[in-house]
Amino acid sequence: MQFTQEAIIGLERRYRANLINSIGGFKSLVLVGTRSREGNENLSLFSSLVHIGADPALCGIIVRPNREGQNTLGNIIRTGSYTINHVTAGFVEKAHQTSAKYAEGVSEFEQVGLTPAYLPHIPAPFVKESPIQMACELVQRVKIDLNDTNFIIGKIIHATIPDDCIGHDGFIDLEKAGTITCSGLDSYHSTFAMVRLPYARP
Ligand SMILES: Cc1cc2nc3c(=O)[nH]c(=O)nc-3n(C[C@H](O)[C@H](O)[C@H](O)COP(=O)(O)O)c2cc1C
Repeated sequence: MQFTQEAIIGLERRYRANLINSIGGFKSLVLVGTRSREGNENLSLFSSLVHIGADPALCGIIVRPNREGQNTLGNIIRTGSYTINHVTAGFVEKAHQTSAKYAEGVSEFEQVGLTPAYLPHIPAPFVKESPIQMACELVQRVKIDLNDTNFIIGKIIHATIPDDCIGHDGFIDLEKAGTITCSGLDSYHSTFAMVRLPYARP
């Protein structure tokens, strides 16, 4: 099948969403944990995590829409703190359920049955069930006017990784950790390692 620009615009809404949401390939699947200034915990599923750089250690997420309540966006902007937690097959249904539109102030941790965990000096909650966890500090918010979204850039200020999942060179064994991936907004996948290649030179 071929889709011209006109054809894409003319597609039925749900069909277009499925097509465009999955055409970008497999994506990182993470739970973003935040806490409002009032102390309410929030947990949401994200697949837009991108690596920005290793030195300094920066990553970004796309948060939509541009509404700053006691939700992921509002909590990150007001507290500057959030956590990023990998998802495993053992709690994929619970992770998916966090994407439901719960009322502000309602804790998705409680609603779906995941456990908040804290480290001193990091206000945002981690997901205890998650094998690989990071804490981020907001360093830049980029407003994308095109579709009212935000690119939230964070500095990685803490990482927790199981000892037996880190190689001598620092490379993380995601299969061993149980990390899964996703396609679109409803399809979850496990992976298998194929090959690691040496640094490419001309
Ligand atoms: C697989 C999957 C991936 C998602 N990825 C994103 C994402 O990258 N950015 C986003 O804003 N919402 C994403 N969502 C939707 C959010 O999880 C959902 O809107 C959530 O309720 C937002 O919570 P909040 O309003 O408490 O911030 C995704 C949902 C699913 C099921």
